[in-house]
Amino acid sequence: MALTVSKTPTGSEYKVKDISQAVFGRLEIELAEVEMPGLMSCRTEFGPSQPFKGARITGSLHMTVQTAVLIETLTTLGAEVRWCSCNIFSTQDHAAAAIARDSAGVKAEEEYEKSGKLPDVNGNENEEYRTVLRIIKDGLLVDPTRYRRIKERLVGVSEETTTGVKRLYQMQANGSLLFPAINVNDSVTKKKFDNLYGCRHSLPDGLKRATDVIIAGKIAVVCGYGDVGKGCAAALKRAGARVIVTEIDPICALQALMDGTPVLTLEDVVSEADIFLTTTGNKSIIMVHHMKQMKNNAIVCNIGHFDNEIDMHGLETYPGVKRITVKPQTDRWVFPETNNGIIVLAEGRLINLGCATGHPSFVMSCSFTNQVFAQLELWKERGTGKYEKKVYVLPKHLDEKVAALHLGKLGAKLTKLTPAQAAYISVPVEGPYKPPQYRY
Ligand SMILES: NC(=O)c1ccc[n+]([C@@H]2O[C@H](COP(=O)([O-])OP(=O)(O)OC[C@H]3O[C@@H](n4cnc5c(N)ncnc54)[C@H](O)[C@@H]3O)[C@@H](O)[C@H]2O)c1
Repeated sequence: MALTVSKTPTGSEYKVKDISQAVFGRLEIELAEVEMPGLMSCRTEFGPSQPFKGARITGSLHMTVQTAVLIETLTTLGAEVRWCSCNIFSTQDHAAAAIARDSAGVKAEEEYEKSGKLPDVNGNENEEYRTVLRIIKDGLLVDPTRYRRIKERLVGVSEETTTGVKRLYQMQANGSLLFPAINVNDSVTKKKFDNLYGCRHSLPDGLKRATDVIIAGKIAVVCGYGDVGKGCAAALKRAGARVIVTEIDPICALQALMDGTPVLTLEDVVSEADIFLTTTGNKSIIMVHHMKQMKNNAIVCNIGHFDNEIDMHGLETYPGVKRITVKPQTDRWVFPETNNGIIVLAEGRLINLGCATGHPSFVMSCSFTNQVFAQLELWKERGTGKYEKKVYVLPKHLDEKVAALHLGKLGAKLTKLTPAQAAYISVPVEGPYKPPQYRY
């Protein structure tokens, strides 16, 4: 069902499922604000000087309650904001409604393109990517200069997640990056918090809401042992599962072993395991030929960025396969040869946002405070030439500031270095700050 564009009395455009949910959305946003000290401190520190006055910021990010607090932080700092959701299952309609009513133009297209397949615009990538390509293609037919004009006005972008920053670095390498970009993902207070602790919290939440299967005692396979994989494996272990990891990287594989987790290939365990989870940010990890070999009612899900880690296309087109929708985002797929079924969650998209409400506010406050700092930096330095058409990370002192803003809420007291101690451990650093590879 296509949603129609409406306008608030003040002229702000929105496209949401049910604007009457704004009241509920506002109540949850107010709860979240208390758990988001980084963002609320930004409002206190920067709000009075209105640093974003004149800036128009547009975002594409899961339209959740936590994102609502980010949006309203940007507007409190003076920005005009428009937002669109980035995943058909992650939109929280009440949060979108509250933002649409009170703060920013929103296109919460939860049901976007659900009714039909998109044409393949020269790609075998995920659906979101093809959707973007199609919108661009259609837009070019109407106005061939539109995107060039957008690019000329664009000050820069800040990117939230591992998969997104990989694309930006690829664009930088092949010369197709048209604007400065800040890689927010590789701030320590993002990748080592949201990806790790966020998934550690929201994966079991999603599994439990989607199925009534007990995790304890089950064999769970986690594909990929990066930050997301580490958080997920930890959560599954805490819930009593026997976890097995698959990896391509010898260092991550060794880390899994040192954490007491066997490392095998998918082929070794495919017919024995009960729960399969992809966390790689790569594609074609669990293929339909794997799914065919799984135990009856094995659970298959993904927490990496896109729905191409699990071969949904192979599953949907498998001859004679039967799809039984148990409830939204929980489907049992039955193979004709064996009559065995597997349970696929969130149609192969992010389980923690499709089957649960995503990461908790506190951890998203760390991520989103980095986003605010990145946007402030890009806007402040527009036109100064400080940022070229390259990908940058935030300086270490801002990463530390994000952490510091969250300590008080947890009752921490930081020890202060004496000047003698500071001199004793300081190491001269040449050139601009380069973060270590935070992958491990
Ligand atoms: N669902 C969420 O809330 C959430 C949060 C943060 C990040 N993400 C997404 O999760 C994905 C992983 O993020 P990350 O920060 O852990 O990345 P990462 O690079 O730290 O980890 C990915 C791991 O997968 C491994 N890998 C790659 N191909 C593999 C294969 N074929 N088989 C087995 N292992 C393989 C890599 O060696 C690496 O160790 C990304 O797509 C990221 O955008 C999701």
